[in-house]
Amino acid sequence: MATLVTGGAGYIGSQTVLDLVDAGETVVVLDDLSTGFEAAVSSSSELVIGDVGDASLVSRLIVEHNIDAIIHFAGSIVVPESMANPLRYYLNNASKTRTLIEAAVACRVPHFIFSSTAAVYSSEGSLPVKEGDPRLPQSPYGRSKLMSEWMLEDVSRVHPISYAVLRYFNVAGADPQRGIGQSTRGASHLIKAASEAAIGKRPFVEVFGTDYPTSDGTCVRDYIHVKDLADAHRLALARLRNGGGNIIANCGYGRGYSVLEVLNAVEQISGKKFDIRKAARRPGDPARVIADPSVAISQLDWRPKFDSLEAIIGSALEWELARSY
Ligand SMILES: NC(=O)c1ccc[n+]([C@@H]2O[C@H](COP(=O)([O-])OP(=O)(O)OC[C@H]3O[C@@H](n4cnc5c(N)ncnc54)[C@H](O)[C@@H]3O)[C@@H](O)[C@H]2O)c1
Repeated sequence: MATLVTGGAGYIGSQTVLDLVDAGETVVVLDDLSTGFEAAVSSSSELVIGDVGDASLVSRLIVEHNIDAIIHFAGSIVVPESMANPLRYYLNNASKTRTLIEAAVACRVPHFIFSSTAAVYSSEGSLPVKEGDPRLPQSPYGRSKLMSEWMLEDVSRVHPISYAVLRYFNVAGADPQRGIGQSTRGASHLIKAASEAAIGKRPFVEVFGTDYPTSDGTCVRDYIHVKDLADAHRLALARLRNGGGNIIANCGYGRGYSVLEVLNAVEQISGKKFDIRKAARRPGDPARVIADPSVAISQLDWRPKFDSLEAIIGSALEWELARSY
């Protein structure tokens, strides 16, 4: 019995692989290294370089390694890029997920865990966001993720496959002691960008919109430490294997910080001032996004351990200073 982790050379996938092998799991990573790094993949797992859209490769891996669970991280993740190039996102995130699910069904893989996102929700809904709240994604990225959720829901009704959909909020932080952190090419995430600016790797950080109806006019987001997120996957896998059934769960802490609060915290923790520039709002950015994590807490028994902005930023800064890839 082994777990196939697609995108296991990426930021969140590599952290999860590390935790799974530490927990004694046999892990096979499938990654095309388009944004991931070979160096990020635990040496206790097997890395296969290839595409999740390659049905015969996926089927061969499932059979050869006796795969009983797929954790599907692989995908394209940059929202503005998805606006500019929607077909690329529908191909890599929706079409290739369809191919992967088809191979899973054909080879009778019983469990599937999918990386979804807060971007599937409507930007107009009430807060904190619950899993059953209206879904109205504003970008091809969010839509491609919601399409994948729907595929799993429909397929699970007629085939013996159970699934966990984890909807991540804003993932940040690192595990520098174990050599894991965010190096994703093209990543525009706030804490990543601010950490780079604080150590002089980036000339400035832009604040997109300062006239939102929030306390300081900047967007509010729910930041989750990547180590707590990885743990949610371990727990979701245990739930599916124990027959706990399908689950859709938000992964966030239920508390929001504004862009300016985050930037001030990065300056304070790093002891470095950097150039912060006001810019226009970006299309599709909601004012506030905050998770209701009660499903993950009650049904996965998820107990976050790094639930503090200081812990997230401190580890992200440490990673930027020490990173080897
Ligand atoms: N980072 C976030 O804040 C965030 C928030 C919500 C959801 N997510 C989702 O989490 C997942 C992982 O994101 P991440 O931040 O680790 O990004 P990442 O870019 O670091 O990781 C994605 C990995 O998938 C691989 N990949 C991409 N397309 C592939 C393909 N066709 N075949 C094989 N491998 C492929 C890349 O090489 C990379 O290693 C994604 O599905 C993303 O949509 C991320």
